Amino acid sequence: MARHLVTSALPYINGIKHLGNMVGSMLPADVYSRYLRQRGHDVLYICATDEHGTPAELAAKEAGLAVAEFCAQAHHAQKAVYDGFQLAFDYFGRSSSQQNVEITQHFARQLHKNGFIEERAIRQVYSPVDGRFLPDRYVEGTCPHCGYDKARGDQCENCTRVLDPTDLIAPRSAIGGSTELEVRETRHLFLLQSKLQHEVEAWVALHEEQWPQLSSSIARKWLTEGLHDRAITRDLDWGVPVPADTWPELAAENKVFYVWFDAPIEYIGATKEWSDAAPHGEKRDWKSWWYEADDTVRYTQFMAKDNVPFHTVMFPATELGVREPWKKVDVVKGFNWLTYYGGKFSTSQKRGVFTDSALELLPADYWRYFLIANAPESDDSSFTWEHFAATVNKDLADTLGNFVNRVLSFSRKRFGDDVPAGNAAGQAEEKLGEEIARLLAEYEEYMEALQYRKAGAALRALWSAGNSYLEEEAPWLEIKTDPQGAALTLRTAMNLIHLYAIVSEPFIPASAAAMRGAFALESDTATWVTAEQAKSLDAVPAGTAFTVPPVLFAKIAQEDLESYRARFGGADA
Ligand code: MF3
Ligand code: ZN
Repeated sequence: MARHLVTSALPYINGIKHLGNMVGSMLPADVYSRYLRQRGHDVLYICATDEHGTPAELAAKEAGLAVAEFCAQAHHAQKAVYDGFQLAFDYFGRSSSQQNVEITQHFARQLHKNGFIEERAIRQVYSPVDGRFLPDRYVEGTCPHCGYDKARGDQCENCTRVLDPTDLIAPRSAIGGSTELEVRETRHLFLLQSKLQHEVEAWVALHEEQWPQLSSSIARKWLTEGLHDRAITRDLDWGVPVPADTWPELAAENKVFYVWFDAPIEYIGATKEWSDAAPHGEKRDWKSWWYEADDTVRYTQFMAKDNVPFHTVMFPATELGVREPWKKVDVVKGFNWLTYYGGKFSTSQKRGVFTDSALELLPADYWRYFLIANAPESDDSSFTWEHFAATVNKDLADTLGNFVNRVLSFSRKRFGDDVPAGNAAGQAEEKLGEEIARLLAEYEEYMEALQYRKAGAALRALWSAGNSYLEEEAPWLEIKTDPQGAALTLRTAMNLIHLYAIVSEPFIPASAAAMRGAFALESDTATWVTAEQAKSLDAVPAGTAFTVPPVLFAKIAQEDLESYRARFGGADA
């Protein structure tokens, strides 16, 4: 048994996330955590909302709410969707928590003490009409690179280039649209990342072997371009305040830390939130997961590729500069993009499928399976309603759901409410057992390696093996000439259902529970089946009472498909 710390990139507080966000961070982290828990490991899966920065302030303004109130509501709205997706976080925190404020300020003080923070005067866009500086997304204008006229001060959404507000052509305030903007001098804290370049390089070199190629190539690219010193404070009302004991003047000017400085620290902050929220009598030790935890904890992070530089290079630089033994990541699992018919899912343009609407249409398991089995790993992958419907109908409804229903209803009709005994296992069952053991070992190997598409394929193959066995034995014919043989076939198939319930749980937890619940087993505590155990297919003995669960997966009909396309826009969206 090992201790596994798992985190997924913290979703921005503004707005419900789309399926592309889900597949690149929280969902794979949940699948992995569930798998590890089933294998008996001590797992802590932590996530939180990322609540600071200009996106939060601007969204609050649009909603007509004070930022704190907006964030509280939006946090609950996101949490409800994640519960709907059955994401089994150990804790879902908030980066605006007091815990994160304290740890972020502690990190900043340490970095300062160690000579990695410097105060510098810089020129920033100021709006006399709004009476304030306009950092990041508070300025909009025309991108100097591609001419897109709705580029934001931190980045151009059209060409993805990173920008500074002062780069924009024809800048305007995102608050009231004022174009009477000036550039004024203001003082900010800079993190001297350039001083940490060599240390980060050495650290990456030591760890990248364990990372997927996507993560290490992004880290290498950033290191080659060189780590630049960067401003880690902003002139904003909402954020972690610069501590007055260390920087009295900046604190008096109400400077707060930049969102990308405090957000990754919230992985630690949220762990402390989890610890502080322990019910009476339960001991939770947040520090043991993070402090001097190098040899005892294995830490895996999940995120989409745009977040990879922050996790492979910048946050490690921060942690290294703090000069205290904080746990650093072991494996960074990065994902490519999920596209919507080859185009971008876009929160701001409301293009694609959002997680709340997805759950209105169909239960979580349909989405979980489709998304993970088609995860954008080695390349971007595209969501289309046609592909989604075909996958659900074939893999979930036909291969798995139909198998479960067919076997249980037929056995009940012919042999009653208990698992029938029939003949002892013969050659066909032995061959099946070997095949199942082989596929299960494969499935385990891919899960451990975080290769989701391949794990999905192995799971599908396990389901298919049951179908082939059933087709070959054809109990509906066997019953006429050899009822004991038919009973053996059905008992074996029911054992497969029980096995599927266990091994499919990380992908489709609700359906797995329904499958498992079909059998009234006296003591059914096994959380996993090893390949060796799987071979004998005898966990569910003859005589066990069972029920026939409702159809596990409904097929998506042509007319449903058309209505989804019409509602969300299909290929022409
Ligand atoms: N909110 C960021 C995004 O959605 C991710 C933050 S990850 C963290 O891109 F490490 F900073 F928390
Ligand atoms: Zn551009």
